[in-house]
Amino acid sequence: MGRAVTRPVIAALDAAWESELVAAVEATAGYTVTRRCADLADLLAAAAAGHGQIALVSADLRALDRPALHELASHGVEAAGVVGPDDEPGERRLRQLGVEVVLRADLASHEIDDALDALASRTRPHGGRGEAAPDGDPAGSKTAEGPQPATVIAVWGPTGAPGRTTVALNLAAELALRAPTLLVDLDTYGASVAQLLGLLDEAPGVAAAARAADQGGLDLAALARVAPEVTPGMRVLTGLPRAQRWTELRAPSVAHVLATARHLARFVVVDCGFAIEDDEELSYDTLAPRRNAATLTALAVADELVVVGTADPVGLQRLVRAVQDLTDLADLADLPDLADLPDLPGLPARSGRPPRVVVNRVRPGAVGPRPEQRITEALGRFAGLGDLDFLPDDRATLDAAVFAGTTLAEVAPQSALRRAIAALADAYAAPLPERRRRHRSRRGVVRS
Ligand SMILES: Nc1ncnc2c1ncn2[C@@H]1O[C@H](COP(=O)(O)OP(=O)(O)OP(=O)(O)O)[C@@H](O)[C@H]1O
Ligand SMILES: [Mg+2]
Repeated sequence: MGRAVTRPVIAALDAAWESELVAAVEATAGYTVTRRCADLADLLAAAAAGHGQIALVSADLRALDRPALHELASHGVEAAGVVGPDDEPGERRLRQLGVEVVLRADLASHEIDDALDALASRTRPHGGRGEAAPDGDPAGSKTAEGPQPATVIAVWGPTGAPGRTTVALNLAAELALRAPTLLVDLDTYGASVAQLLGLLDEAPGVAAAARAADQGGLDLAALARVAPEVTPGMRVLTGLPRAQRWTELRAPSVAHVLATARHLARFVVVDCGFAIEDDEELSYDTLAPRRNAATLTALAVADELVVVGTADPVGLQRLVRAVQDLTDLADLADLPDLADLPDLPGLPARSGRPPRVVVNRVRPGAVGPRPEQRITEALGRFAGLGDLDFLPDDRATLDAAVFAGTTLAEVAPQSALRRAIAALADAYAAPLPERRRRHRSRRGVVRS
């Protein structure tokens, strides 16, 4: 009687127990080892060549990180971890990398069969795993999360510095007055949040978070460490200090950072770069880092999108195009990078909700008298855009905020610009009547 069809296994294992484990796998009913690889590069090559459906990887395999696991997954290879009998740290590390099945090196063949069968029958990740605790929180212990899930708001807009950062920063500051908020600077062309808040250039920020995500060390505590609280309730994950370092923000790492961020704050506001062309569209299988991966990932996983444009003829035209471009990206969830992620909890909750369109720097000089009415008419008529939010042009107030290295709420709570951004925040969280009254009375309107 012929042997039942076996599934091919490729392995990169610790020399100390490689031969015993390979022999044990060979003796299983369902699996056979097709390649024994010396290192990760070898393993990835074997995966790319289609030699395996399952990869056995040692916890101490050099350079094993999240992108590597993602690359395996992209070749249709599921990874199972292997640890020595008492290697708890190794097992923890593998689990933090998102490896769900971890075997002990001394398992008997029938146990290996069971474990690998469990891997094979595991349901595909997205769909139903949205409530997973963040990695590195194996006990599923307490998180900052209340009964309501976190809302990720991506603030984006076309080229021409329309005010993405100004809106993201001040929207985050307004939300932080209501609930714990994390501001993430993902603009890989010109990060500026750190500078606007007078934070040190050396702040570890998003690069450190992404590195930790790659290496399996990003849990809630690690994210909290690199995202300090800058004003009460507002944590900040600063951006890349240099644009050249964009390769550090790959889609899987960014997705993981944002997924973890959901457990650290009630609101996560993301300052995005302007560019959303997908340079890898023509060569998905190369898995090369994509120039705009950070922004594309943020747009894909965000629950809410805010698109910012400026209220002048060029800015308005770009705004209209930007909204169209965003619509063209509607199938963001289909980006292969993201679809293949082994551990992305809950893909877009946004479910095609239209973006909130914010027209910034509104002033009569640029478009004529009654600018809001004119812009509403023009964007409605030519682009079918309704429901616009307007922010007034106010150079002096913003200068004062930038000069003081702080937010509008701190420096000019009564300004029309601050109030308009606070009203924007009201769309995502309950308004703050108490606080506003306090501001007013502090100004002495009521008190004599
Ligand atoms: N409502 C406003 N009134 C006056 N000036 C504004 C307003 N909004 C933004 N600005 C100014 O416009 C400039 C660009 O704003 P901001 O940095 O927020 O834009 P951005 O879209 O993030 O640009 P970048 O492409 O550099 O990331 C800044 O000097 C900012 O202070
Ligand atoms: Mg900016």
